[in-house]
Amino acid sequence: MLKFGALLALTSLIPAFVEAVAPVWGQCGGNGWSGETACASGSTCVKSNDWYSQCITSSTQASSTVQSSTAAQPSTTSTPAAGNPYDGYEIYLSPYYADEVIAAAAAITDPTLKAKALKVKDIPTFTWFDVVAKTSQLGTYLADADAKAKTTGKKYLVQIVVYDLPDRDCAALASNGEFTIANNGLNNYKGYVDKLAAEIKKFPNVRVIAVIEPDSLANMVTNMGVTKCQGAASAYKEGTIYAVKKLSELGVYSYLDAGHAGWLGWLPNLTPAAELFAQIYKDAGSPPFLRGLATDVANYNAYTTTSPDPVTQGSPNYDELKYITSLAPELQSRGFPAHFIVDQGRSGVQNIRKEWGDWCNVKNAGFGTRPTLNTGSSLVDSIVWIKPGGECDGTSNTSAVRYDGHCGKESAHKPAPEAGTWFQAYFENLVKYANPAL
Ligand code: BGC
Repeated sequence: MLKFGALLALTSLIPAFVEAVAPVWGQCGGNGWSGETACASGSTCVKSNDWYSQCITSSTQASSTVQSSTAAQPSTTSTPAAGNPYDGYEIYLSPYYADEVIAAAAAITDPTLKAKALKVKDIPTFTWFDVVAKTSQLGTYLADADAKAKTTGKKYLVQIVVYDLPDRDCAALASNGEFTIANNGLNNYKGYVDKLAAEIKKFPNVRVIAVIEPDSLANMVTNMGVTKCQGAASAYKEGTIYAVKKLSELGVYSYLDAGHAGWLGWLPNLTPAAELFAQIYKDAGSPPFLRGLATDVANYNAYTTTSPDPVTQGSPNYDELKYITSLAPELQSRGFPAHFIVDQGRSGVQNIRKEWGDWCNVKNAGFGTRPTLNTGSSLVDSIVWIKPGGECDGTSNTSAVRYDGHCGKESAHKPAPEAGTWFQAYFENLVKYANPAL
């Protein structure tokens, strides 16, 4: 990234007695890392995974001391409110993402672009819990949301992504996670879910909405030919059911990730997908808090369009609403009355992919439709932003352990850092090409 490149160049001019440090949001560790391991003032080095540690600002650090005044009361919710769980709630803004956006805007010199970039911090985006080390941050956010609810008299909800299954991202490499099935991963995963649950339990007055495990069940539908996915199937299912049950007991409204129109929306995939989702729903005890499915997570598809992107050719389900409208009756007939949320965070620009399967840092993407309950369909609870735009999909460094060929494709923006870490140039384009404009 330019920002870090410039800073590194500067450090070579600093006299030797001044200790060099990694910049805020810069890399500060990981297997094979030979750069700075100390972080710039106001930030601390936090491990993201074995390959990457990052300097994170203090305001996004976990605080284990925060307690709510209502902490003693566990949630007693056993019946969800009827209807759309988003209705009547303010969405809590993720401080983690806001800090990333503020730092990114500070690195932009063009004043018009800077001002547009800063607006993104006020758009609600899900917070991903992609490593167990981040789970205690959830308590901090919930306490903050609880406090805001008390001062404003409004009801708040916090949006999270549960993302730490063992052998994660079984059909790709870019987002391989911290747990392996071979090394006690399923138990570790249950421990991770328990940690999230323990934080949620302390704040019964704050509603939590969770997206469960992007890509995992979709891989079970179409990628069982991949050895790692086949080997992960039973752990994915057991882990997902464990998470859904545990969260439902606490009144968390969950949506299972359901890929996107260009994945499970192909006609031969619809029925097997519906069978799997309905089975998971049933095996979890048909919890009423398992509200439905999340689609287009971290992808780029239009919600609804009259001019299909050429890459979608051959599929009648060429946008997310068409996919959802085809899938919903298949779920209903199998006993799962699913509702949907749809990620439109990076879907502002269409016709930018060479193939529908391009998913990694697709070049020239723009921020999309803002989160809204105005979805035009009773099946869809909300258009949301799930992938935090500006966080990377995967590294383009061909020698990295998590290098995935998709991130080296012509349609992928390069050079790109490790998945989940900040990608300044990509963020700036999302801002520039936002549609509607920022
Ligand atoms: C990464 C995660 C990250 C998420 C959201 C995924 O591709 O693997 O580490 O939290 O994207 O940016």
